[in-house]
Amino acid sequence: MKRRDLFKLGALTGATLLLPAQRLVAAATGQPHGIAAFTVPLRIPPVLHPYRRTLHTDFYHVTQREADVEILPGTTTRLYTYNGAFPGPTIRAVRGRQVVIHQTNALPVHTSVHLHGAHVAPDSDGHPTDLIHTGHSKDYRYPNTQLAATLWYHDHAHHGEAESVFRGLAGFYLIRDLYEHGLPSGKYDIPLMFRDIHLDERARVVYQAPDPGGRNIVLVNGVPQPFFRVAARKYRLRLLNAANDRAFKFALSNGANLVQIASDGGLLPATVTTPVVELWPAERAEVIVDFSRLPIGAKVVLRNQFGESDAAVNLLRFEVTRRASDHSRIPTDRELPDLPPLGLRNAVHRDVTVAFDPAQRHFTLNGKTFDPDRVDFTVRQNQLEVWTVRNTDPVGFAHNFHVHLVQFRVLDRNGAPPPPGERGWKDTVTVGPGQTVRIASRFTGYTGRYVFHCHLIDHATAGMMGQLEVVR
Ligand code: C2O
Ligand code: CU
Ligand code: CU
Repeated sequence: MKRRDLFKLGALTGATLLLPAQRLVAAATGQPHGIAAFTVPLRIPPVLHPYRRTLHTDFYHVTQREADVEILPGTTTRLYTYNGAFPGPTIRAVRGRQVVIHQTNALPVHTSVHLHGAHVAPDSDGHPTDLIHTGHSKDYRYPNTQLAATLWYHDHAHHGEAESVFRGLAGFYLIRDLYEHGLPSGKYDIPLMFRDIHLDERARVVYQAPDPGGRNIVLVNGVPQPFFRVAARKYRLRLLNAANDRAFKFALSNGANLVQIASDGGLLPATVTTPVVELWPAERAEVIVDFSRLPIGAKVVLRNQFGESDAAVNLLRFEVTRRASDHSRIPTDRELPDLPPLGLRNAVHRDVTVAFDPAQRHFTLNGKTFDPDRVDFTVRQNQLEVWTVRNTDPVGFAHNFHVHLVQFRVLDRNGAPPPPGERGWKDTVTVGPGQTVRIASRFTGYTGRYVFHCHLIDHATAGMMGQLEVVR
């Protein structure tokens, strides 16, 4: 990312313009959320328990409803939630065991639940037009036949998804399998959802897009600048960028490396030791952080190098408070799952141009906005597809390209191999201004209609989405 591009990004999401009523509290604490940094404990989203288990399937109930949730200490914010929780409850699935979720919509808006990154049939994918109307229910069926991965579920109702996600409709869905054996687990396996929010002087959510400077509070699992007490040992952190537009570049304040073990679709073919991990909206990275060499009492801040203010830079403080035994280990590259050969020679090639159209004031894919009655690409099942995604945006927006149903591989960016953190399975990839990214995927298992879109979800809502149909 060039500095120039970051300024453009800043114009869209950053810049600390304080709202009048926030000025007073900000004067006291220096923070837009009015509290001192690292004074509220991190919350871990509750794990949902199945109401019924059979030999092959776990059954869950989820009710989408409004709830008053404490984001700023001492006050509540009315949110859209799954089961009253923000982030939504975590679903822990096992590869090879089916999950069925009975979703009831008790919200004032229509919804659609999309399991982001999942390999599922079209009628369980949460297509933008496959709505659960207010007061109704729907069963979603997830086969979990893919590799272990950090997935997430979120709203996808056409034209409502950006606002509903912003108002709270997002949660983790974790699939596990045997490749993960030996990694930090249980209370040392921590999902972390990062996003920003715009709250007015009475702590009510303000949704507007674009919203320059308004979304100035960054939340980690729903808490501004929390602290987290850790043992001096290894942790597995599952980082998810669930923001509508904001990008994060994570680094530790003590300069220690992160060991990235997984990308969107699961474990990487080789671990990546790196000081920084960059995530654009909807992307995930799993990292191992080792606190074992730190003394009791040490404090390390997880930082966002893209942040425009203290509240957006200093995200979360780890506080080493105890020793603990640690039998976990980082897998060697030989223990990690291999990637299958691509077979590029027989690929079908397609082009996608992503851009804002300043004349029409539209966000477009191949010059068009989303039309649910139009199929943009007809794709043969099992056929290798290579898509060349070009960002020709004249305004200089970055766009984040996401395809439903598949995990793809990033072949190259501007002709050069992708960075090591993008060499595994991905379902969402950043295409910066002027960049060209080639991705390869195979649409297996199902036929029917799925969408692909920019995952700056404010853009998707505004029409930056296309539709594909998988045929036999
Ligand atoms: Cu998370 Cu269609 O997206
Ligand atoms: Cu998705
Ligand atoms: Cu976009």
